[in-house]
Amino acid sequence: MRSPRFTQLHHADHAAVRTELLQGLVAPAAHTSPKFLYDALGSRLFEAITELPEYYPTRTEAAIFASHGARMAVHMPPEATLIDLGAGNCHKAASLFATLKPSRYVAVDISVDFLRSALLLLQRQHPHMDMAGLGLDFSAGLSLPQELMRDVAPSDSPRVLFYPGSSIGNFTPVDALDFLRSVHTACGTAPGSGLLIGVDLVKGTPELEAAYDDALGVTAAFNLNLLLHINRTLGTDFAVREWAHVALFNTTASRIEMHLQARHTLTVRWPGGERTFTGGERIHTENSYKWTLPGFQALLANAGFVATQAWTDTEQRFAVCWARAL
Ligand code: AVJ
Repeated sequence: MRSPRFTQLHHADHAAVRTELLQGLVAPAAHTSPKFLYDALGSRLFEAITELPEYYPTRTEAAIFASHGARMAVHMPPEATLIDLGAGNCHKAASLFATLKPSRYVAVDISVDFLRSALLLLQRQHPHMDMAGLGLDFSAGLSLPQELMRDVAPSDSPRVLFYPGSSIGNFTPVDALDFLRSVHTACGTAPGSGLLIGVDLVKGTPELEAAYDDALGVTAAFNLNLLLHINRTLGTDFAVREWAHVALFNTTASRIEMHLQARHTLTVRWPGGERTFTGGERIHTENSYKWTLPGFQALLANAGFVATQAWTDTEQRFAVCWARAL
């Protein structure tokens, strides 16, 4: 049996994280990056979100893979290395091994520690597959280290970059283009390489807003938990009960916005500073862009991809695209 190789390339810079959070907090329009939603509890709350009746993306994407997986497999290059961006527990990719039949698997996530147990388990189920775990922050662009890729994905072997779940929705269109260009470069030059990506599609406001403001209040808890994370990181004294979860579809920008809204005028204090929020004032915590299929295919083309194929559910809620690198 082979054993997975692990490499940690990203090292959390606590001072930089604090500076970034603080700058957003004191900005006239307060804002935080969605990455701060995912502390240990936030990650578990997100997993719970994916099981909510209102949150359709995860199960719709799974249904698309279940009904169209064989048709997707036709387009995959043989002997490919599957490179999983944001692999987490590796479940999604693993469930596609039988259909897509990759020869090698590279799981990429911000922390290699999250990947370790999942990959060790997966290696036992697929003893002959080459596996590697890579701890890398690709939010500001993907760059795969050459030495490592030489071992895990020889340059003459095709690469299938895998970016499911509509995480691309967290990028503004301008940043999504930059990011997809970096993914295009990461595909390398072997014939057949490409990107398999999930994207959430534009739909009616009520359905979108319900998906981000569910009846059980799980998404509200996910959003509010950010305040606990900030309290731990910055030493702020946010009181969760003084804030309300707001999710709205901004039709002009074609994005769901999540905010935390002060229920009344209040002051947040931390060592070395404070900020007063007036009642109704908001902290913008996440954007989740929704694309039309033609709009997203144009974005892929702009990023350098060719011959895009797309599969959707019958309701056209969600799409999975295969885009070749050359
Ligand atoms: C993980 C970014 C795809 O935008 O739907 C879910 C995050 N936020 N509910 C999304 C999220 C609130 C999710 N993504």
